[in-house]
Amino acid sequence: MKNKVAVIGAGNVGASAALFVAERGLADVVLIDRPEMDGMPQGKALDMQQAATLWHKGGTITGATDLAAVKGANVVIMTAGFPRKPGMSRSDLLKANAEIIVPAAQAVKQHAPDAYVVVVTNPLDVMAWLFWKTTGFPKHRVVGMAGILDSARFRAFLAMELGVSGTDVQAMVLGGHGDSMVPLPKYTTVGGISVSDLVPADRLASIIERTRNGGAEIVKLLKTGSAYYAPAMSAVEMAEAILTDQKRLVPCSVLLEGEYGLNNLFIGVPVMLGGKGVEKIVPLQLDAAEQAALTKSARDVSEMIAELEGAAKAG
Ligand SMILES: NC(=O)c1ccc[n+]([C@@H]2O[C@H](COP(=O)([O-])OP(=O)(O)OC[C@H]3O[C@@H](n4cnc5c(N)ncnc54)[C@H](O)[C@@H]3O)[C@@H](O)[C@H]2O)c1
Repeated sequence: MKNKVAVIGAGNVGASAALFVAERGLADVVLIDRPEMDGMPQGKALDMQQAATLWHKGGTITGATDLAAVKGANVVIMTAGFPRKPGMSRSDLLKANAEIIVPAAQAVKQHAPDAYVVVVTNPLDVMAWLFWKTTGFPKHRVVGMAGILDSARFRAFLAMELGVSGTDVQAMVLGGHGDSMVPLPKYTTVGGISVSDLVPADRLASIIERTRNGGAEIVKLLKTGSAYYAPAMSAVEMAEAILTDQKRLVPCSVLLEGEYGLNNLFIGVPVMLGGKGVEKIVPLQLDAAEQAALTKSARDVSEMIAELEGAAKAG
């Protein structure tokens, strides 16, 4: 195939993402894990390669345990990292996952210097910032996956409430990935009808609350590990938008330099995602409460970035 997608991290999210990329026939895929896991990514890739004979799209799926295998990738999906365990906050993941991001970003810079990067590793907004900072890539080439997943969860809960297809629910969720995300009911429609005309205010409030805790609800049910099918599919939606220049208008975590009154951080805002990555940041007129919620969410992200920068200086 013409394109190559490198998926770093062959765990639950990474393997599912590799499968979805291959099944959509988007690109050849290489699935990469750490050297201690030698055999695991290769075995999963071989299994998928055998499945590929049954979905008629062609393409190769290979496994590797050397980060140099990202060589020549058009898109890198970064999923390596520890998932959140029950009772563990995203901030707890900060230090451990930063130590995984930095060498991966250095390898991408060296071996795939023109790649577009979709970061999935948590805490998402901070890890996307760290990946961007480490590579020194232009800001339009590094983008974090959170808003598409958060809005997919909101859409799914609304679809379940109304008994309609999730495809017909459109929603916009801004802010950091986590408890401080900012769902925007005024931009949420079902078949073009404003959600507030269909769902009573108290029900809508509880659906928004469930969306905020969407990840934690699954962690609690699974007992080990965290959600991966919807996260992987969300990352692949982004890879597809880039590879096929779809110009999707979707919420993604991107570097802000003054937009929405925020600076030097990654956070979820509506963007146009196409062949040149983040082609545009779309401004929205937020009311005072929405802007305050976004600013608070940004403060959480900035605090974690400061914690990382502090640790880097001290170390
Ligand atoms: N942004 C989001 O919305 C979102 C959603 C779901 C999961 N996540 C995050 O994605 C990450 C992966 O989740 P998962 O469920 O796939 O976890 P997982 O434990 O199933 O897989 C993680 C994989 O990363 C690998 N890994 C660790 N260090 C590595 C390194 N240095 N190089 C290459 N591979 C390495 C591990 O061996 C493992 O196979 C976690 O940080 C999780 O919190 C984010």
